[in-house]
Amino acid sequence: MHVLIVLAHPEQKSFNSYLAQQARATWLEQGHEVTVLDLYAERFDPREGDWHYCDRQDAQRFDAMREQRHHWNQQSLPAEIERHIDLLLQADALIVQFPFWWFGAPAILKGWMDRVFVYGGLYQSQHRHEHGVMRGKKALVVSTAGASEQACAPDGRDGDMRLLLWPILHSLHYVGFDVLEPYLIHGVRGGLAPEAERKQQKYLEQRTLDYQARLTRWAQWPSIPFNQEQDFIDGQSLRPGAPTYSPFVRHIP
Ligand SMILES: Cc1cc2nc3c(=O)[nH]c(=O)nc-3n(C[C@H](O)[C@H](O)[C@H](O)COP(=O)(O)O)c2cc1C
Repeated sequence: MHVLIVLAHPEQKSFNSYLAQQARATWLEQGHEVTVLDLYAERFDPREGDWHYCDRQDAQRFDAMREQRHHWNQQSLPAEIERHIDLLLQADALIVQFPFWWFGAPAILKGWMDRVFVYGGLYQSQHRHEHGVMRGKKALVVSTAGASEQACAPDGRDGDMRLLLWPILHSLHYVGFDVLEPYLIHGVRGGLAPEAERKQQKYLEQRTLDYQARLTRWAQWPSIPFNQEQDFIDGQSLRPGAPTYSPFVRHIP
């Protein structure tokens, strides 16, 4: 199996970078191939914009979807985008590793999806969801939050972290991945007093070992259920009686 780990953290000595390296070591030990794509280390530009495209289909007005499709068809996407797409296409499994920043992913990761999940190539109307280009591959989101597990729970003050991750989880499903239940680590805080710091270190070490052990049981990792095409009328609205798996796609009372 080939595993691609996409890391979105600016500091190589951070806990997130450590988790990415520990995951890499676990996969290697199991005899798999692993690539870590460190977006900050590559100084990846997360801004989609006209300056990335050399031979525009429409030079007068920049239309991101139009230019993405055109440059995919012409095989003239920016070199780093082509390389990242190749890595995605070669991978059997994707792990997306990032700290929870302002109730979502760091901007570099959102921009990575804006630029790398190209229209016409990685998705189009006939190739989305269970018919997506990435079907048959699994994707796992691993994220750390400063807030406690209680604060990130469904009744927590910071809101349900699992729900706040919907945009990224749904985007991965949109391009066809089988999206696994995210692995979340809470209470990852800096600036602690020495005693609290020691306690946290111990806790983070335990969680890292638990995460690595879970990776060795990859086949048993539960997937997130999403509605299938037949659950929607004309592919748009939930059919009466269709199951619901998320408050984001629900029956209107
Ligand atoms: C810009 C920024 C925004 C943050 N927003 C949140 C947040 O919305 N919720 C939260 O629980 N923690 C938040 N944090 C704390 C980070 O999640 C925490 O520092 C990180 O998970 C620790 O992992 P690291 O040591 O790998 O950086 C934020 C931190 C930064 C720098």
